[in-house]
Amino acid sequence: MTNTVLSPSYPACDLSPRPLSDKPFAHIVHPEFIDSQLYAQLSKTFPTCPPKTGPTGFSLYWGDKEYRQLLATQSAWQSLFNTFHSQLFINWSREQFADVWEREGCKLKLAQACYVPYREDRVDKERAKLRKVEHAPHELWVRMDIHQGRQGYDRPIHLDHARRLMSMLIYMCDHTENAMKGGELYLHDDQQRRSPYPAVTRITPRHNLMIAFPCSSRSHHSVSAITTQRAPRNYIQVHISSSVDIWPRPPVPRWRRTLSSIKSHLKSVSDLSAASPAGKVSAR
Ligand SMILES: [Fe+2]
Repeated sequence: MTNTVLSPSYPACDLSPRPLSDKPFAHIVHPEFIDSQLYAQLSKTFPTCPPKTGPTGFSLYWGDKEYRQLLATQSAWQSLFNTFHSQLFINWSREQFADVWEREGCKLKLAQACYVPYREDRVDKERAKLRKVEHAPHELWVRMDIHQGRQGYDRPIHLDHARRLMSMLIYMCDHTENAMKGGELYLHDDQQRRSPYPAVTRITPRHNLMIAFPCSSRSHHSVSAITTQRAPRNYIQVHISSSVDIWPRPPVPRWRRTLSSIKSHLKSVSDLSAASPAGKVSAR
């Protein structure tokens, strides 16, 4: 492939419809999602992510200086960004998941869904609600986050924010090649979500493997702790998001709200410490 930026009319990924799997909740999988030549370029230039906020503790987000430099110097990354930040991508997702959104009670008027170029900052990314809502619910925006999961990284069973319409993960590493123990993605059903890692659906990271799912109130997922690895668990996370909650969610009990506010206070203290030269962010 020539070293040029692909426009959304020539998507960097295979945006044809995929068969929907329903167990334990609606999702799609693609074993070779990104154009193979482009994937080779992305793989070769995958950045070393510095310690930052976010679930892995090592990430690059739109708005970071290093992210801007990566897109400016590596056209493959700019092409991927252009593909996701487009009306074409919103349309693909709508066609792929329209039935699921309706069935699971998504509050969006999907016929009006349109792309807007809005950037959610690092502070809002961690928050259940945006500090300031600037767009109507059907005006959708996209995140393309770059992550490296290192030893110790895990994710307990959780739902993504209720403002997320769809979450997508694209793995840019191989579980076997990395001699990785742990680091698998698990999809849970409602009955089993309280047990540690029930074998409902397990996704093992493989090069260029993509999984995507609507962020309904049934989409509980987790990542098992990485206990050994030869190289980081490189992956890209893409969200299509509204600015307000669009999924019905059970009310959060008062004790959990209190616990969350204590946790977010502790996190902000930890983030402040990470910002200092001697600081360090744990790889959660
Ligand atoms: Fe998640």
